[in-house]
Amino acid sequence: MLLKDHWYVAAWAHEVTRGLLARRLLGEPVVLYRSTAGDPVALEDRCLHRRAPLSLGRVVGDEVECGYHGLRYDADLLTLAAHTSSAAADRVEVTG
Ligand code: FES
Repeated sequence: MLLKDHWYVAAWAHEVTRGLLARRLLGEPVVLYRSTAGDPVALEDRCLHRRAPLSLGRVVGDEVECGYHGLRYDADLLTLAAHTSSAAADRVEVTG
């Protein structure tokens, strides 16, 4: 039995790089990568737009860019910008 709100190993340190690593943790899709400072980042592996796996996108600086429409997410999932359409970015709102 796996319990939520407990520590589990998500990956070995050497597995988390500047590339995107998809994992399933406690049944949830997670994407792992390292920031430019070398800090590990874990995000839900689903885009807020159409739930595309972020792990199929790419790392741009400290952000993950969704490979489908180009929305970008930072480590807090709060920075969100569309790089394919400024009109789409104007309509996107994230509340936390
Ligand atoms: S599904 Fe990710 S930007 Fe549209």
